[in-house]
Order: sequence, then C-alpha cells, then structure tokens
Amino acid sequence: MQRSWRQDADKLTFISCRPVSQSRINATDIHLVPEDEAAQNMVGDINLFLRVDDGDEGDAPPQLIGEIELMIAEKANQGHGFGKASLLVFLRYVVEQEARILDEFVGSLEAGEKEKLVQGQELKFHCLSVKIGKDNSRSLALFESLGFVKVSVEPNFFGEFELRRADLGVQGVSDSLAAAGVERYVELAYERKE
Ligand SMILES: CC(C)(COP(=O)(O)OP(=O)(O)OC[C@H]1O[C@@H](n2cnc3c(N)ncnc32)[C@H](O)[C@@H]1OP(=O)(O)O)[C@@H](O)C(=O)NCCC(=O)NCCS
Repeated sequence: MQRSWRQDADKLTFISCRPVSQSRINATDIHLVPEDEAAQNMVGDINLFLRVDDGDEGDAPPQLIGEIELMIAEKANQGHGFGKASLLVFLRYVVEQEARILDEFVGSLEAGEKEKLVQGQELKFHCLSVKIGKDNSRSLALFESLGFVKVSVEPNFFGEFELRRADLGVQGVSDSLAAAGVERYVELAYERKE
C-alpha cells in the first residue's frame, strides 16, 4: 500500500484478505502473521472517501459524508461472501472509530471549510454513501441488505444509483453483523515492517 494512502486524512483504505484458519480464530492469543497479507491472500479492497457536503439548499448546514468503494477483484473470488464480510467489518470499524476518523479529517481542512462546520458540535457522519451502476444487481443487493437506501427512484445522469445509510449507531451495526451470522468480531493489532 502506498504511504500516502495511509497518511491522507480524507481517505481510508483497507485490503480485504482471506480469513485466517478456524483453529487460529479459536485461539485466545490470535495474532497476524506476514502470510496473512501475502498477495495470494488478498481478495479486494474497500475505501472510504470523506467530504463536506454543502447540501443543495443554500442555507442547509454542511454535512460530513463518507463515500464507500468496494471491490472484490477476481471474478473467481466474487459471490463467496468476501464482499459482504468486508463491508460488515468495515462498517463496524467506521462507527467505532467515527470520532477519531472525523477529528483527523476536519483537522486537515482549510480554515474556510472548517468554519462552515458547526463549531463545538460533536463530529458525526451525516451518512455513509455509495454509488452503484444501475445494472450492478449484486452490489445493489449487498448494500440494500445492509440498510443502505436509494436516494432517488431513477439513476443519475451517469447511470448510477446513490444509496445511503444514516443509522450509524454501534448497536444498529452490531445488529447487522448478528443478522449476517457473525458471532465474534476481534480487531487485531497490525504491525507492518517496512
Ligand atoms: C459487488 C461486490 C463487491 C460484491 O462482493 P461479493 O463478494 O461478490 O458478494 P458476496 O458474495 O459477499 O454477496 C453479497 C450479497 O450480494 C448479493 N448477491 C450475491 N451474488 C448475487 C448475484 N449473482 N445476483 C444478485 N445478488 C447477488 C446477495 O445479496 C449477497 O448477500 P447474501 O449472500 O447474504 O444473499 C463484488 O462482486 C465486486 O467487487 N464486483 C465488482 C466491483 C463492484 O461492482 N463494486 C461495487 C461498487 S461500490
């Protein structure tokens, strides 16, 4: 991964890798090993691009929006649950780290842009958003199954639907994981040796 991807405050990038073996998952002291991120274990990526939306109506307060892009690269790896698993854990990470992610993003804005945001108010995402081609039924089904809702009945000029999820409470996202059959979620420390 390029260094700038990790340092840019307006972007989060994660690589989706195959799951570790069940025996390691069952162990109490599970930790990552270099093989976990070897090329053959990488299946795709998921990104979040942060922006301040001034809104269409002139006096609407600016809103913090996170736009998701998800890809499971090889056709052979699609349709095996990697996309759904990536999106679920990503949602969980984003809602748990919301304050930290937005603090860093807002801190990086130009003074003029920063001033547009309501000062002293807790930083929260207005919503997470995704743009999906109108014929991409798999992706539409995936995001709709996880509470993303189309913002318009017709696709936009570029043939895409925008879908948004505004319920970003930890409980709501935990419910989505539970509904998908996820029994356990652990965040592991990741140390990269350059
Ligand atoms: C869209 C994409 C991310 C989905 O990931 P995936 O690993 O292939 O999908 P999953 O196996 O996790 O399936 C997720 C959901 O998609 C839907 N789905 C899967 N296969 C489907 C198919 N053939 N037709 C319609 N819906 C389908 C189901 O709702 C499924 O959830 P379920 O298993 O609980 O029913 C992946 O196919 C991809 O990267 N495609 C190319 C790039 C792209 O379109 N990105 C999305 C734009 S943000």
